[in-house]
Amino acid sequence: MLAFLLMANTVHADTTPTPPPARDLQAVMKDMGATYKALAAQTKDSTQTAAAIAGAAKLNGFVAEAATFYPDQLALLPADQQRVQQLQYLRAILNLRLATIDLEEALTAGNAQGVQDALAKLAQMRSGGHDQFKQD
Ligand code: HEM
Repeated sequence: MLAFLLMANTVHADTTPTPPPARDLQAVMKDMGATYKALAAQTKDSTQTAAAIAGAAKLNGFVAEAATFYPDQLALLPADQQRVQQLQYLRAILNLRLATIDLEEALTAGNAQGVQDALAKLAQMRSGGHDQFKQD
């Protein structure tokens, strides 16, 4: 049995494709930017609701990915301030994720006011996050 498992593992290892290159926060934010831009247009067009729902789900995934990084500049802070800022970054990103859930739910329910509210919240969080964490 053990021999079989070892062999199966070897076969698996030989056929595993090379993983894609590691991403960084900038790459994730670029994807968030493009997805958000498309969403802003799709939500204005009632024939694009399915695409908007898919876009909101995609944005949710990118925001989850953004929570696996910290902004580079925080590494330059003294250790105690660094952790305080890291936790503030994480909280802001998790709040952003909740807003993407609000957006997808409102789109799915056909709640136009909810869609507008969620988009406004996303834009507000983007400015707040960039003011605090993004270097010019
Ligand atoms: C819907 C919301 C958001 C969108 C659409 C968005 C989009 C973007 C875009 C387009 C960039 C520039 C990427 C480039 O250099 O090409 C960027 C950078 C950045 N954003 Fe956001 N963002 C959002 C929310 C946030 C939030 C909430 C935070 C922080 C809590 C944040 C932190 C950052 C940081 C730190 C960078 C610089 C990354 C780097 O260059 O290493 N963003 N974002």
